[in-house]
Amino acid sequence: MTRLAPGDRLDLLVGLGNGFDVSKSGEAPLLIGGGVGLPPLYRLCEDLTAQCKAVQVIMGFNTKSEIFYRQEFEALGAKVLVTTADGTAGQKGLVTDGMAGLAYSYFYACGPLPMLRAIEGVAQTGGQYSFEERMGCGFGACMGCTCQTRQGPRRVCREGPVLLREDVVW
Ligand code: FES
Repeated sequence: MTRLAPGDRLDLLVGLGNGFDVSKSGEAPLLIGGGVGLPPLYRLCEDLTAQCKAVQVIMGFNTKSEIFYRQEFEALGAKVLVTTADGTAGQKGLVTDGMAGLAYSYFYACGPLPMLRAIEGVAQTGGQYSFEERMGCGFGACMGCTCQTRQGPRRVCREGPVLLREDVVW
């Protein structure tokens, strides 16, 4: 895409899968994103701050040079905590270290599977996970992106990528 010029035409499949359900957020939702898992949370943050929710965001990175979108989330009125694994910016550690001691009504998380699994181990409320998964077809035909839930297998590209915490089988 970096080699595209204005006016170039693309062949895209868009509008696939589901999205976050903001109706469950409560008054003080916590958004947790790791690396490229952060952009999907930006639109959610827009929606929640527009509803005057007290939004907190934990942004997890490996190191200071990877940090992006911090000002954009803060400009929406969210309270932002940055964590870096090497301690070069923000709080040293993982997003789960940032969660310790925080009060929140509900959580939304997007990032790599090990991060989501770690959140599952410490989260104190209901929440929603947006799964990153390698995809073959992207529209529900190959079953290559399946995730186990209490209702049986669910395709991340079709019934996901957002699944409720209480439904996911880890
Ligand atoms: S990528 Fe083929 S079913 Fe999801």
